Amino acid sequence: MSGAKRACAVGAAIVGGGLAAVAVVWLVWAWWESRLPATYSVMDYAIPDDGGGPATDMGMAGKDHGTSVTDLHGPAGVPTRRFTLTAEHAEVRLASGRTVAALTFNGTVPGPELRAHQGDLVEVTLHNKDIEDGVTIHWHGVDLPNAEDGVAGVTQDAVPPGGSYVYRFRALQVGTFWYHAHQASASEVRRGLYGALVIEPATNAAPVSGRGADITVAVHTLNGTPLVNSTDGVEKRAVAPGTPVRLRVINTDSTPQRYDIGGTPFEVVAIDGTDLVGPTPLNGRTLVLAAGGRYDIAFRMPPAPVKLAVEGTITGLALSPDGTADPPPAPSGPEFDPAVYGRPAATPFDASSHFDRSFDLTVSRKPGFFDGQPGMQWAINGHIFPRVPMFMVEEGDLVHITIENTSGAVHPMHLHGHHMLVLSRDGTPVTGSPWWSDTLNVEPGEKYDVAFRADNPGIWMDHCHNLSHAAAGLTMHLSYMGVTTPFETGGTAHNHPE
Ligand code: C2O
Ligand code: CU
Repeated sequence: MSGAKRACAVGAAIVGGGLAAVAVVWLVWAWWESRLPATYSVMDYAIPDDGGGPATDMGMAGKDHGTSVTDLHGPAGVPTRRFTLTAEHAEVRLASGRTVAALTFNGTVPGPELRAHQGDLVEVTLHNKDIEDGVTIHWHGVDLPNAEDGVAGVTQDAVPPGGSYVYRFRALQVGTFWYHAHQASASEVRRGLYGALVIEPATNAAPVSGRGADITVAVHTLNGTPLVNSTDGVEKRAVAPGTPVRLRVINTDSTPQRYDIGGTPFEVVAIDGTDLVGPTPLNGRTLVLAAGGRYDIAFRMPPAPVKLAVEGTITGLALSPDGTADPPPAPSGPEFDPAVYGRPAATPFDASSHFDRSFDLTVSRKPGFFDGQPGMQWAINGHIFPRVPMFMVEEGDLVHITIENTSGAVHPMHLHGHHMLVLSRDGTPVTGSPWWSDTLNVEPGEKYDVAFRADNPGIWMDHCHNLSHAAAGLTMHLSYMGVTTPFETGGTAHNHPE
């Protein structure tokens, strides 16, 4: 090797070594930076995003300024509907006779079905008997005051064993909702801390059963066992021919569920607790429901049996005149598409409205560190939790969000405290009924435009309802300017919302 060549090689080695050293230093820094402290506020790390609207003090000025979430409680007054939910470990006996160790509300999985009428002042007292990690209750899909939202470390402290918490809210939305733990939720919900919440119209003084069959179908996988309500098989029910039937299907799992309905045409009459306009009969369509989402299905009971089967499981619901039939499942069909179903109708705003703020919410995957762990991480707008955007709004704003999923996995995006009007998917406008969602299944490669009115001040989670994705960082917040929280992740209450 000539002297010049040798010098060159040495130089290259030095440069290469230098780059390697820089890379190592960068990696160590990235690892160090990513570690989450034992205690922190969701306000501490987030990157405020004002969505092109007026930027004000960002609500991050300090915990002693502005409105605290603790000032945003439900109404005072005498409750018209009262419930007590006790979170406890229990051995649950399933319909087959098998028992499963579970976390329960009032000893059952699902917890008791709560029913209220529109206008009721609902009061729910939560007791935690013996759930070590602590418990909260989130009212999924109910747009209630922020302090009642049940998010550990944001709107309250997790309730420790022996502790209690009282939730109060006015039941304003008629529809199908559910409740679940929002402390250590990835584990606690999977293990059984969930139940159905149904709000019936105020005019309905008589029980719904007097008018027809109103049946909740909460579909869950409890420690690996598929359940329809508390049945680890096919739940059979007697329904007289001619009876109007409403099935309130709730996906309480973390992945989409697919249902096949055989024996009758049916209508999808509500999505995520909001009635659709002009539903039309469907036949042989497979329903795909987002994790956390709800579909209400209606039909008139025919003389022969009807079966709702949960694909990939032996579970389902079978209705027949004498309650004994269990017909075979219908085959899988083309997927039901809410974007083109039903009839358009006036909405308080639409795609042509002037939006006060427009945000992008792009979910991707990239190599990096999450809480000190290297790997392929979920990222929001290119950022790994907790340095994710915080969407800042002011009360009254009309807000637009473009949700895009380039991550290669499906994400059911759930916004607390608000319902989003779905405007378009992949640039194609929604042409059917107005479609209001609180939990939107965003498939890989999909892009949705949604809008909502910022009419419910607080700090609201906006996260993936695949709860293990949320626990791995697919979580961010919508925050009203000037609202602060005294609660922290970690801390003495060991708050860990996901
Ligand atoms: Cu159903 Cu933040 O959750
Ligand atoms: Cu996800």
